[in-house]
Amino acid sequence: MRSFIKGLSVLLLAAALLGGCGRGNSGDQTDNISDEMNNQADEYTTVGFSQLGAESDWRSANTESMMTAFTEKDGYSLIYKNGQQKQANQITAIRTFIQQEVDYIVLAPATESGWESVLEEAREAGIPVILVDRRVNTSDKNLYSCWVGSDFELEGKKMAAWIKAYTEKKGIKPEEVNIVNIQGNIGSTAQIGRSRGLANAARDNGWNLKAEVSGDFTETKGREVMAALLKRFDDVNVVYCENDNMAIGAIDAIEAAGKKAGSDISAGEIMVVSFDGVNQDALSFAREGRISCIAECNPLHGPRVRALIEALISGAEPDKFNYVEEKLFSSLPEVESVTVDGEVYEVESDF
Ligand code: AHR
Repeated sequence: MRSFIKGLSVLLLAAALLGGCGRGNSGDQTDNISDEMNNQADEYTTVGFSQLGAESDWRSANTESMMTAFTEKDGYSLIYKNGQQKQANQITAIRTFIQQEVDYIVLAPATESGWESVLEEAREAGIPVILVDRRVNTSDKNLYSCWVGSDFELEGKKMAAWIKAYTEKKGIKPEEVNIVNIQGNIGSTAQIGRSRGLANAARDNGWNLKAEVSGDFTETKGREVMAALLKRFDDVNVVYCENDNMAIGAIDAIEAAGKKAGSDISAGEIMVVSFDGVNQDALSFAREGRISCIAECNPLHGPRVRALIEALISGAEPDKFNYVEEKLFSSLPEVESVTVDGEVYEVESDF
């Protein structure tokens, strides 16, 4: 914050001095103006936000949520850096924030590993770090103040419970369920949790998990990966896409191969399920049944991160891990709710 504020103070002070000269202000008044400018500038809380990239609609919505939560009108100065999907860029951004002496660092990490050194540097500089969306797997959990985001494994478990309930209702035997998983970027919390949710359910239910291939959370890679999987296997009937953008790409590939994306597996359709519920096309596909079910992943973390920072400012100690509640969306009438770990989750059909 300090260097930005100093720059702002100098400009404001210069303007005040120029205006003041014409009105014949005394030296004392100038000192008062100077103090006032510094006090005003000191009111900004500076937040350095290292976003991991712009790979999906979810990510764009998340960035926008952060931008609108931290505005100068509310007393914040947000410094945004896009990591372009590279951890090295995010590490450089954090080091820049440290040099700039920001008040808080918010990190949306691309992957979980490799953060110890830079988070140690932030701690030595006395700058609290708030994690948003994905997590880091440092052995020392005190390298960051707190985290807010989704329970990605729970999302995966809910989706697997939906697939189980749906296929059972339709009389499809477990051994007839042939699934491929188009994964997110490998090593990210979202990928790890969603992949684990599916892999455990496939093992427990006796489904054939035929392949797990990363589509990096992008539509282009989702299309490419699905096209390759259709050439490799001729019996895939469920495609578990770890986000909506990849699902849209996968549906393109399914249709380009002359097949139909839909829930009538017995009639040869390929069932596509996905995560997020942010992309409007994906939601339309879900209303039409081309996507059979979407597990919501809520991106609107800006106000949540701001509340955490405000708690820290007030001297409170917020909870270390803060989970958001999320829904399942499906226009198919067969499954009204799923139960995971003793909790019942209603399936929303009106979305
Ligand atoms: O970490 C959240 C995931 O990242 C979203 O599901 C995906 O769309 C995004 O890229």
